[in-house]
Amino acid sequence: MKILLDVDTGVDDALGLIYMADAHKRGKAEIIASGTVGGNVDVEKTTRNTLKMWEMVGLDIPVAVGANKPFLTELNAVPHIHGDDGLANTHLDPPHRHPTAEHAVDQIIRLSQEHAGELTLLAFGPLTNVGLALLRDPEVANRLKRLVLMGGSLSGGNETPTAEANIYNDAEAAYVVFNSGVPLTMVGLDVTHHTYLDEKDLEPLYKSDNARSRFTLQLIQFMMAAYQKLGREPQCVLHDPLAGGVCLTPDLVRTEKIHVDVETRGKLTRGMTVSDRRPWPAHEANVDVALEVDAPRFVSGYLEAVLRWCNAG
Ligand code: RIB
Ligand code: CA
Repeated sequence: MKILLDVDTGVDDALGLIYMADAHKRGKAEIIASGTVGGNVDVEKTTRNTLKMWEMVGLDIPVAVGANKPFLTELNAVPHIHGDDGLANTHLDPPHRHPTAEHAVDQIIRLSQEHAGELTLLAFGPLTNVGLALLRDPEVANRLKRLVLMGGSLSGGNETPTAEANIYNDAEAAYVVFNSGVPLTMVGLDVTHHTYLDEKDLEPLYKSDNARSRFTLQLIQFMMAAYQKLGREPQCVLHDPLAGGVCLTPDLVRTEKIHVDVETRGKLTRGMTVSDRRPWPAHEANVDVALEVDAPRFVSGYLEAVLRWCNAG
């Protein structure tokens, strides 16, 4: 499976990259490139963090810089959840490698041509780059094998009462994507909120006790503390890693094909993914929505992957 990643590396994106790197090294997927987008932090930081993560996992994956700002709104960075640096205030040394000269939007278009019918686009952040690629070249929708995205929800939001953050943070781009005809799997809060790490999962990481496991623990514990400050359980929710898991192992989730559109105007509902589950939907179903997840299976597989990396260090 050939995968192009589009990321706003942040804490759970970084945890997703460790997991995807394990799949790549074990021949379960071929990550051919990555692109960055502003989201959790600005695009300069998401690019630096993505380069750094590839360096730390020992992979030479190209990183193309993408859009910093959404189509119409301002960047809505969340340092209280991901840290000022986007990586839990670990303030790592700068990466050794540099991004490629190509823009992430051009990269999506080019790779969809070079790998027509074979390329899965896996999006962990706001859909700005993907939306721009589809506006520039609507045929991208027909050339991609699938777009798997972390985003959306049919059961309430996290950024607002109704909207999930990645969709809210570029609702216009998400509108373009959901209406593009691309084969789309939505891995949203309906499933990601069931997949998390908490203190009882961390013992093997404490035992591992090396630079990699300590870094991973810093990420996880920063996220747990951030969630607790927000009044939630102290959990590190594996939003982006689960989207990666669904990409690699679709039967981790039960999906339903549903018509889903994105609200761009509502005062209380901007960024909401609105599903039409009537027996007489007004439009054809356009999205495979993940509605249930085998959380224990995913979380144990996720931890195994992370520990393979930590214990190889
Ligand atoms: O809603 C969760 C998503 O928002 C994740 O992709 C996380 O990284 C943040 O960007
Ligand atoms: Ca993300």
